[in-house]
Amino acid sequence: MRTHSKHVLICTGSRCTQDSKQSETMFQKLGEKIDSRPDLKVKRTRSHCFAVCKNGPILVVYPEGVWYRCTDETVLERIVEEHLQGNNEVSEHIIHRLGVGDV
Ligand code: FES
Repeated sequence: MRTHSKHVLICTGSRCTQDSKQSETMFQKLGEKIDSRPDLKVKRTRSHCFAVCKNGPILVVYPEGVWYRCTDETVLERIVEEHLQGNNEVSEHIIHRLGVGDV
């Protein structure tokens, strides 16, 4: 396993979106973006439910504990570029934060 500095969990549960395949597609696209950036030290893992079903795809970044609603690939690209690579959170897509709650 590669050394990583951030861990991204994506819910791929069947209730996460209206189209249950949307979250799995997002998981695959995140993998492509990580693989295309060798300097990016990010691990991704599937999760089965964060208990905010039908609001997905949901993507959680640790160690920050920031929950994103990642609606499309444009949002995913911003999260990768700005947060995972640039360490700047994409505040307009955050729905929940560790230690704070819903935002
Ligand atoms: S299935 Fe994704 S939050 Fe419940």
